[in-house]
Amino acid sequence: MTNPTAAALIARSNRLGADPRNTNYAGGNTSAKGTDTDPVTGEPVELLWVKGSGGDLGTLTEQGLAVLRLDRLRALQDVYPGVDREDEMVAAFDYCLHGKGGAAPSIDTAMHALVDAGHVDHLHPDSGIAIATAADGEALTGEIFGGRVAWVPWRRPGFQLGLDIAAIKAEHPEAIGCILGGHGITAWGESSEEAEANSRWIIETAAAHIAEHGKTAPFGGIRPGFEALPETDRRRRAAALAATIRGIASTDRAMVGHFTDSATVLDFLASEKAPALAALGTSCPDHFLRTKVKPLILDLPVTATVDEQAARLHELHQAYRADYQAYYDAHADAESPAIRGADPLIVLVPGVGMFSYGANKQTARVAGEFYVNAINVIRGAEALSTYTPISDAEKFRIEYWALEEAKLQRMPKPRSHQGRIAFVTGAASGIGKAIATRLAAEGACVVIADLDLDKARAAAAELGGTDVAIGVAANVADSDAVQAALEQAVLAFGGVDLVVNNAGLSLSKPLLETTEADWDLQHDVMAKGSFLVSKAAARILIDQHLGGDIIYISSKNSVFAGPNNIAYSATKADQAHQVRLLAVELGEHGIRVNGINPDGVVRGSGIFASGWGANRAATYGVAEEDLGQFYANRTILKREVVPENVADAVAVLTGPDLTRTTGLHIPVDSGVAAAFLR
Ligand SMILES: NC(=O)c1ccc[n+]([C@@H]2O[C@H](COP(=O)([O-])OP(=O)(O)OC[C@H]3O[C@@H](n4cnc5c(N)ncnc54)[C@H](O)[C@@H]3O)[C@@H](O)[C@H]2O)c1
Ligand SMILES: [Zn+2]
Repeated sequence: MTNPTAAALIARSNRLGADPRNTNYAGGNTSAKGTDTDPVTGEPVELLWVKGSGGDLGTLTEQGLAVLRLDRLRALQDVYPGVDREDEMVAAFDYCLHGKGGAAPSIDTAMHALVDAGHVDHLHPDSGIAIATAADGEALTGEIFGGRVAWVPWRRPGFQLGLDIAAIKAEHPEAIGCILGGHGITAWGESSEEAEANSRWIIETAAAHIAEHGKTAPFGGIRPGFEALPETDRRRRAAALAATIRGIASTDRAMVGHFTDSATVLDFLASEKAPALAALGTSCPDHFLRTKVKPLILDLPVTATVDEQAARLHELHQAYRADYQAYYDAHADAESPAIRGADPLIVLVPGVGMFSYGANKQTARVAGEFYVNAINVIRGAEALSTYTPISDAEKFRIEYWALEEAKLQRMPKPRSHQGRIAFVTGAASGIGKAIATRLAAEGACVVIADLDLDKARAAAAELGGTDVAIGVAANVADSDAVQAALEQAVLAFGGVDLVVNNAGLSLSKPLLETTEADWDLQHDVMAKGSFLVSKAAARILIDQHLGGDIIYISSKNSVFAGPNNIAYSATKADQAHQVRLLAVELGEHGIRVNGINPDGVVRGSGIFASGWGANRAATYGVAEEDLGQFYANRTILKREVVPENVADAVAVLTGPDLTRTTGLHIPVDSGVAAAFLR
């Protein structure tokens, strides 16, 4: 049963974390001190419950809390070897755990333990960080809060910062909290309600002061030519640039992207001071760990063409990499971890919006959210004073901190398709849906493209939230619809790496009954549809410079001459030859093109359910419900083929193992000698 002190802490944390004005996603931490019964002695024991490393306040549960013994935490002060060796104290937390201790204690645990108050909140509110990053933050703190809030100069989080805050609280008994220079706020109270009220008061008082006393145009005037494009134009422009920018951001390692064109971003980018302010970088450690110390900002007006913008972005990227290398070289010493890649995580295109990147969609989205937080911070600081983030040297001490490196090393090994973006046509049903499911399970972001938007969205929702999969409507036989669907894909995930031409349908008819319309429909959806999808996707793959995969779900019927199948089998043969042609043509871009020849996939297949099954059953003279087994019995392996078997082949062809294979067709048919490839 949850201890009532811990239960109140969880409720307070969830309330505070629910409002983005109070803290950024997964930012800050909260704690409560109280007693419980020590199961070993039966005596009461004083405990600290504190949000563990990495969790989010808004969704905090008991599992996210670290539970430590206060007597032992306080005793750490007696063995503290000084600020030069403060990192050793993190390992010592493990000797203070109560029982198994719950979640891993974060670096801020010392602050919560050492500050002499029953309940402590450490938060990263935009309004508070604005004061914390103002050039005269200390004077402003006095002016805004009177003596109720103290000023603590910037110090990297750790044991010493905990001691600093505890000392300042002891010196200022009237204080309800403090502003942490360059970083955020900490507030306290004797009850959970009091701590929460004090946190909110600091955040709201700072925000109200900025609103009342701040300059009206903190970013200066509008830069002519850099104003936001109308929504349709800017989305089209964003889609046209997305692949190029993702390629830039992925030079050292493949990244997933997120696009934001909120008014906050567009207004900042349209302003006179945006280039200079962006160059100063972000300040709160939480922000720059996710956004890198500074963004890349394009310096061309919106009247420039896509090609001009792309060319300039490549130049700016080279300069960005040199600058980042210089930052690393200036601050690294023999003990520093190796450089972690010199590409930007935030790319700003005035008039268009912000592209943010991460190893997966969630990380990319949160990086964008954090840069929006940073814009709000910069606006607040400039409204009252001059924005003054912490120095590059201090940023480096955080970014390449041994403790930060250890956290990265502890991250689970990425799944085989993590960081890859798949576009699967006809994926609301049957084989396509199984492929989408498998690729998502392997870590890919998936775009499900199908005729019916609701069906596509429903299939995507089965795979998870929009960080995992989205559904888009696209008739693959319509080039405009294909283009629009791929634009949605690149805006949702930053680009495309893996295309599966799976959409299809089948009419089983003998030659004399096959109408011209039947022929055209089959060829429009399969031969022409996959040509259109491959063509539009190839533009993206080539611009990205990250290689890629195109898979055709062809058929055993592309080589096997069965009866009553002229239109379907002919267009399947066309698809099969597209594999070979495009493998040759796209190889120079690192794009591999392969095909799969399934056969007899009855279960889950819409094709079979909607008449084709009945037709095939009649053709072969068996009952429709026995068709799966009929197909199985005529195979070499005598095993039924299910959609997941085709999905397995896609996962292998596009995974890390067949990197030297292109132009191949894999049969997934349980063995049909007449369709052996030679
Ligand atoms: N089922 C089999 O035995 C078998 C065997 C060999 C090849 N194939 C091929 O596998 C693919 C998938 O077949 P399935 O059995 O899963 O069928 P299915 O009917 O379950 O799925 C096909 C999907 O494609 C979509 N689609 C149809 N026309 C489209 C268009 N113009 N634009 C976009 N989407 C469209 C449909 O809405 C449907 O969701 C097809 O290309 C099919 O020819 C299937
Ligand atoms: Zn913090």
